[in-house]
Amino acid sequence: MIEINVSPARLDEKPVIANLMQLYTHDFSEFWAGTPKGEVDGAGLFPAYPYLDRYWEEESRVPLLLRLGGHVAGFALLNAVSHGGRPVDRNMAEFFILRKHRRGGAGTAAAHAIFDLYPGVWEAAVARRNLAALAFWRRAIASHPRAGDIEEHDIATPAWDGPVIRFRIGNAAP
Ligand SMILES: CC(C)(COP(=O)(O)OP(=O)(O)OC[C@H]1O[C@@H](n2cnc3c(N)ncnc32)[C@H](O)[C@@H]1OP(=O)(O)O)[C@@H](O)C(=O)NCCC(=O)NCCS
Repeated sequence: MIEINVSPARLDEKPVIANLMQLYTHDFSEFWAGTPKGEVDGAGLFPAYPYLDRYWEEESRVPLLLRLGGHVAGFALLNAVSHGGRPVDRNMAEFFILRKHRRGGAGTAAAHAIFDLYPGVWEAAVARRNLAALAFWRRAIASHPRAGDIEEHDIATPAWDGPVIRFRIGNAAP
């Protein structure tokens, strides 16, 4: 298994996530063709992520930086928002691996390390057009040794459009 380091992003590391968010938004903008979303401003920047500050202000929100060999390789933002309508302990609000590090197991290693740190009831909501992420999450969740009660629901409401995977990560043996 890949050695990935997962650590809470300090307040002074907020700009690192803000910068990576630009690349993440660029990846997502592929799904927004034909809509007003995903335009850059006159400086060539996507709009700032509206909830970023709250990740350093609210207990239930956790900003994480992912590193491989000491280099930043991605980020994850956790919150406790449910897209499925039932309470959750954690929701994988955003998750990103830099392109250089994709398809080598880094995403799975990071997801597993995060699940180990935060056992409980989880959701991962996937945008309908993000088929790669759906394939990724199905596999990353099912392959975690303490994942159980895995459910997948198709949600189509004004608030969310796409599959939502709900699952439980059990506590590690003491
Ligand atoms: C989705 C993402 C996190 C995957 O990261 P990764 O490091 O490439 O993931 P892994 O190497 O651990 O992939 C594990 C498995 O997931 C599936 N998978 C990953 N990327 C895939 C893709 N583009 N297409 C189809 N399946 C994919 C495959 O089954 C893969 O195993 P394989 O490489 O042996 O075929 C990464 O592509 C990413 O950051 N994408 C942009 C942001 C995003 O969509 N985030 C998810 C938001 S819900």
